[in-house]
Parts: sequence; structure tokens; C-alpha cells
Amino acid sequence: MITRETIDEVKNRIDIVDVISDFIALKRAGQNYKALSPFANEKTPSFFVVPAKGIFKDFSSGKGGDAITFVMEHEGMSYVEAIRFLAQKYGVEIKEEAGAKDEDAGQRSERDSLYIVMNYAKDYYKELLFSNDEGRSIGLSYFHERGFNDRTIEKFELGYTLNSWDHFSKKAIEHGFSEDILEKSGLLIRKDDGKKYDRFRGRVIFPVHNLSGKIVAFGARILTKEKDQPKYINSPETEIYHKSNVLYGMFQAKNAIRREDFCYLVEGYTDVISLYQADIDNAVASSGTALTEEQIKLMRRFTENVTVLFDGDAAGIKAALRGIDLVLKGGLNVRIVLLPDGEDPDSFSKKMGATELKQYLREHTKDFISFKIDLYAADASRDLPAGRQDPIKKAEAIREIVNSIALIPDPIKRSVYLQETSNLLKISEAVLLTELNKILIQEKRKRDQDRQRDEPKEPVETIPDISTPEARTDTNTMVQAQEREAIRLLLNYAESHYEDQRLVDFMLTELEEVEFVNPVLREIYETFRQAAERGQIIDTLYFMEHSSEPVKRAVADLTTNRYEVSKLWGDKFHIQIPHEKEVIHEAAYSNVLRLKFRLIQKYMEDNLAQLKLATSEEDLEKYFSIHENLKNAEKELAVALGIVVAR
Ligand code: GTP
Ligand code: MN
Repeated sequence: MITRETIDEVKNRIDIVDVISDFIALKRAGQNYKALSPFANEKTPSFFVVPAKGIFKDFSSGKGGDAITFVMEHEGMSYVEAIRFLAQKYGVEIKEEAGAKDEDAGQRSERDSLYIVMNYAKDYYKELLFSNDEGRSIGLSYFHERGFNDRTIEKFELGYTLNSWDHFSKKAIEHGFSEDILEKSGLLIRKDDGKKYDRFRGRVIFPVHNLSGKIVAFGARILTKEKDQPKYINSPETEIYHKSNVLYGMFQAKNAIRREDFCYLVEGYTDVISLYQADIDNAVASSGTALTEEQIKLMRRFTENVTVLFDGDAAGIKAALRGIDLVLKGGLNVRIVLLPDGEDPDSFSKKMGATELKQYLREHTKDFISFKIDLYAADASRDLPAGRQDPIKKAEAIREIVNSIALIPDPIKRSVYLQETSNLLKISEAVLLTELNKILIQEKRKRDQDRQRDEPKEPVETIPDISTPEARTDTNTMVQAQEREAIRLLLNYAESHYEDQRLVDFMLTELEEVEFVNPVLREIYETFRQAAERGQIIDTLYFMEHSSEPVKRAVADLTTNRYEVSKLWGDKFHIQIPHEKEVIHEAAYSNVLRLKFRLIQKYMEDNLAQLKLATSEEDLEKYFSIHENLKNAEKELAVALGIVVAR
């Protein structure tokens, strides 16, 4: 148990902007900060930090709270883990309550134990690299040969593991770790026949850090020339390591990425480290595999700009093309540097030296359009006299480029790239636009088909069931569905009794503040309201004689079909059986609640849109408080309706 004083001490030291900035790039907005939500995919920021109150609020996901909550949510930590993490960040000594320690250790979550054993292993490998004869002569000299100095080695916490089957696990078990946790961490391999051995042996070690600097995995590189052994052995997926969520070097690079507002994406461990050694500290690696959506999201927390470094050989170019499309789809701006054939960032930086490398990168960085155009230009003029190009290949290239542009989620960016393509290729923008629209329409059709398969369309006449979460998808439609129901009730049952008043009076009172969204329904509603003010009773016939065509059509629509009632509805009503009366009472009651409920949600959406555009402190505060009020109103209505509000 951590003592109360430790927790208070941590809380006293916390600066919420400082804490959150370790994970995402905050932009100043008046006295507050905003950012793209780290919890949702979005294009305009709806994540806010209010330092004066020490809180954050994420309007996309509904999450909010103080710095501790943020760390818990963002890092998936427990309260205790978050406190420990923050204590370490602010150098607060953690005092444990006496006596409780052993019991606590037993209760520690598996995740905690995994972090601890991985940290232990890292320290062990580091120690061997610097202080063991084998480690120094084989491991350290290898790193030095690759040009890594001790500062770099320390920064990335590189290590060495002895060429022995069980040296590490023996030590770890002596230290008190269970075989079970060693196996779960992937450090120990236990075969079905009971044989046990260390996963990493006789290799140099590259620890993989998570965003907060904890070790979640290792990569281990071979040093010998054995042909039957893989060059790298990596940690398996564990409770704390999901390969597709991690970018190697992100922990070391994140501040630089934020500062430079772009990051270099490279292939492997040594590329990241070599670039660091050459004074380029904003590089991360996908570690030999294709980039994942999660990794793109991770980059997006720190910058929107990615420059991908590729080997200039055929395989490198192919990989570059794949990488570009993935990054574009993720909404990031992508630039490309092709290195000379056969060079990776590691080898190239060593050849060039820091200054020349930087210059090369500056001069050879291309945006993806130019990159694709150059690629096609080389291809289209191959085997042809100088200045001539193969028209079929040219058409192919244009389609290729437009295909990539179509992946960009932001329409404004799309049109900028289209312009650029038009300029560079000397093809009219209209032609390109036609091509682009063809692709976009095809995709939309495909999406619509998928959606239709998933949820068959409801017949127009049914009132949608609004108690389901899917119904939240289009608030505007839902508001109008309720407006329609309100008008239907008014047209058909205005004179029926609602407790000790008429239904029309009940509805008009309840909906006094409401302005209908749909213009036709609004006109009908206003007619009812004005008539009531004059003490008049109106019916379907009144509308038929006095109203515009659209109103007449709507009135006819709502008073026929399954709600068939004629102008004699009043008579009919009086001979209605009692339980039908109940139904109408219930329908009117829930309709007014539902209409308000949907309207509130619409107002919230509108307010949020305003909030996203807000830049001044006053505006932010205003929209914040409007949001809170609407939120409360929504909650109350939801309770009355028996709906659980999802956010
Ligand atoms: P050299 O350039 O030959 O000195 O080797 P390197 O250590 O720089 O690795 P290389 O450039 O061959 O590979 C780049 C990245 O691909 C590495 O950082 C690894 O993430 C990954 N990789 C390479 N070989 C293997 C392997 O055998 N297994 C796995 N899982 N990944 C590998
Ligand atoms: Mn390499």
C-alpha cells in the first residue's frame, strides 16, 4: 500500500499539461490547450486541457478527469500504477505502509509483474554489456564497430546476453521471480517435454520501450554468421506487448517529433539508433513489418507529418508505395526520401556523416506526388527515345496517383494534391477530378452496400425505435422522426384527454420552448399553436383548405395509412376502448420526452462543432458550460425514458 502522504505529494507536484504532453501534442488555445483525441479517430481537435482546473475533457470519447485519470486511461494503468508512474516522473519517493508490502506484492497484477521482470532483464543485459568480459569483448565492441557511442548506447539502454542456455533465468529465479512469470514475459521458453532455456542467448539486446519508458519487449540481434539462425529474435506478444501498437524509438523520439512537427519512419532498430547518432532524434521504426493502423495513430498523437526513408532498390520502392498508401489513409501527410540503391539509413548515415546526411535528407525529401511522378517518369520513358513516353504507362501512372489521393480523408488536402498533380503532369484538373470522383463514388457505393447488408432499411412509415445506440448515428433524422410523431399525435388525437386536459394542450405546453427543425412539420405545429392561442380547434380539414401543398401532403400522409382517421375522428375517439386511450397517453408522454431528448443531442452536436472552432478562452468556457448543461439535461431525459446514455 502506498501511503496517503505519497499520493498527496504526487498530486501536489502534478502539472497536467506537463503530464499529458508526454503522450500527445497539445496546442495552446488561450489559457487552455487542445489536441486531437487520443481515444478516438478524428480530424478536428475535441480534446481539451484546462490547466487552471487541472482537468482534461475529451468530447469524442466522453472521457475526462485529472492527470491521474488521463494516465490510467491512456496507458491502461491501474490507479496504483498511475501513481507510481507519476511519482517516478516527479521524483517523489514512494513510501509503502509497513507490513503491507508482502501482501501487496502477492496482489500485484500480472502486468505489474511483467513490467518488473522486463525491467530486471534490461538492467541485467545492460550490466553484462559494460561489466562482463564476454559482454565487453563481443557486445560492446560490436556496437562500437557500428559507430554507436556510449551516450547513444545508454540512451537506448542497449545490452548483451551471454551465450549460455540458462544464465539469465537462473539469476532471475535466484532473485525471486517465478518460472511462471519468466515464461509469461517470453524471456524463458518452456517446452512441452519440460526443457527450459533462455529465449535470448549470445546476442546484443535492443529493449523496446512503451511511451512512458517501460520495457515491453526485446529485440536480440545475432553476432555470428550462422546461416540457420534468424538475424533477430524478438519477444513474443504478451500481456504488456502488442507488436502492432508499438513503434521502436517512440519513447526516445517523442519530444523531438513534437518539436520538429514531423517524424522519420525507418525500418529497424539500428536505423533509428544510427540516425540518433547522426543527430537526428525524431526517427521511429516499424521494426521490419508493415506499418499498422495503430502505429499510424500513435504517430498522429505527436505529429501529422511523416517522412519515410527507404532503400532505393526495387524492394525498397515497393515497400515505399505500400507504406505511402497506409499513411495517407491514416490522415497523415507523407513525404519520402529514397536512399541510394543498397543503402539503409544506418549504412548511409555512417558513410555520409551527420552534416552531409542532414543535407541529403533536406534535398531529397519529396512529397508523395512528386515521388510517384518521378517513379512513373523513369518507368514510362524506359526503352524509348529521349523525351518520349509510353502513353499507356502514363495513364497507368495517373490512375495510380489518383488512387492514392482518393485515400486521403480530408477533402481540402485532396484538392490541393489534385492541383499539384495537374501542374506537374500537365493534365487538366477536370480530368483528374473526374477520375477521382469515379473512385470516390465507387467506394461510397461499396460502403453503402456494406451498410445496407448490415442493417436493412426500415419502411418509411414506422417510427424508428430510438432506444438503441445505432439510432444515435444521425441525430438530425432522429429529431425529425420525433417531430413527425408529435404532429401525427396532434393531427389525430388533439382532442383526446390527457389526464385533466386535452392532449393538444399537454403537447403545446411541454413543447413550448421547442422549435421544429423540419420546415413543413414546423408550419403544421405553428398552426396548432396559433389556433390554440385563439381558442380555436383545428383539424385535418382546416389544413386541407388553408395550407400549402407540402403541408397538405404531410397532413394527408400522417392521417391516413395505418393511422386512418377521418375528419370524424372526434366521434370515433369517444367510442374508443379504454386500453387504446392508455396507448395514446403513453405515446404522447414518451414522444415529448423523446423529441426533447433528440433535440438536446442535436444541440450538443452543434455546440461541439462550435467548440472545435473556438480559439478564445471565453468561447471555450462558454461552450464547455453549454455542453455540461446539455449533458445534464440529456441525462435527466434519458432517466425519464429509461435509456442509458452511452457517453
Ligand atoms: P544489417 O543492416 O545487415 O547490419 O542488419 P540490421 O541489424 O540493421 O537489420 P536489417 O537492416 O537486416 O533489418 C531491419 C529490421 O528488420 C530489423 O531492425 C528488424 O526489426 C527486422 N529484422 C531483420 N531480420 C529479422 C529477423 O530475422 N527476424 C525478425 N523478426 N526481424 C528481423
Ligand atoms: Mn540495417
